[in-house]
Amino acid sequence: MAYYFFMPAVNIMGSGGLADTGREIQALGFKKALIVTDAPLHRELKATKVLTDLLDEIGVGYAVYDGVEPNPTTAQVDAGTALLKQEGCDFIISFGGGSPHDAAKGIGILATHGGDIRDFEGINQMTKPMMPLVAINTTAGTASEMTRFAIITDEARHVKMAIVDWRTTPTLSVDDPDLMEDMPASLTAATGMDALTHAIEAYVSTAATPVTDSAALHAIKLVSGFLARAVKDGHDHEAREMMTYAEFLAGMAFNSASLGYVHAMAHQLGGFYDLPHGVCNAILLPHVQAYNAQVVPERFVEIAKAMGIDTRDMTASESAEAALNAIRALSAEVGIPPNLASFDVVKPEDFGTLADNAMKDACGATNPKQPMKDEVIALYQAAYQGQAA
Ligand SMILES: [Fe+2]
Repeated sequence: MAYYFFMPAVNIMGSGGLADTGREIQALGFKKALIVTDAPLHRELKATKVLTDLLDEIGVGYAVYDGVEPNPTTAQVDAGTALLKQEGCDFIISFGGGSPHDAAKGIGILATHGGDIRDFEGINQMTKPMMPLVAINTTAGTASEMTRFAIITDEARHVKMAIVDWRTTPTLSVDDPDLMEDMPASLTAATGMDALTHAIEAYVSTAATPVTDSAALHAIKLVSGFLARAVKDGHDHEAREMMTYAEFLAGMAFNSASLGYVHAMAHQLGGFYDLPHGVCNAILLPHVQAYNAQVVPERFVEIAKAMGIDTRDMTASESAEAALNAIRALSAEVGIPPNLASFDVVKPEDFGTLADNAMKDACGATNPKQPMKDEVIALYQAAYQGQAA
């Protein structure tokens, strides 16, 4: 069987990376950017000033769409697309975490295709290239700055749509840890656990290859070693830098190997209740992986080793249990709530609907075991109660 490997052609990473971005934008010959970001970054923190100063310096024009919110919606994609057309922009710069990058991909799709973003739900529904996108990342988690995935919430259906298409891959990704030092501890924790979920889901995916495995295992090792430090002290520069590499490596893994039922189920919690993506993943992760460990226990021996566990005297199932315990311990250490019951909005009577939608999510296709609906409901219930599955 043949496998595909996807990632942007050019990726700038490491401290000082933003300063190099202007030169690359000039080399690409663009005239006017639509900057896609969120209001807290643009209006309150004024974090976008480093970018607008850079564009002023190189004589590239810009308009700003700062209406993106966590779990970006079809309406936000439409509003950004209208502004892009009104302003005559010829490329897009997303600035922020996963939400601005995802919204920017949606805008980039509609800029060249027209129509309705709902038409592009699923795998490879695009017929033309997307408008070029420079994705400047300010969190260490989603990896949307370098992936072919865009997650947009359809408000009418309360569903998070997965748009998976290689044509949504950004032209240029920028991961500069200097932009991440002011990220609050709770966001550092949630996005870091998202990165860990990407790496683990990609590693146990049915589409994993030796190429994605190598990225996934090193990502797991880096998250295990540096996430708690980055949460404890946001200005721990080494921890911030290593988490940047961790999230990028995890992105390299899942962008080609895809994900599994943690994401398929987390997307429904995000779409239905507007809960933070990384937190939903972190809560679901040990439950879904306990389910997966039944069929691929040997994969969990390597995950345990990457998490620093000495597995020499353990059976495969003991190693798997140790890996799951290490995930739970890291989650608790960085302050993730223990279960879904911690959120008042989550109601067990919704789990049937959530399970139906999770089973339609494109991310579940590569889970190592395909669950029946009653098993998906049982996983939601286990995550609700906070019991080990
Ligand atoms: Fe994710």
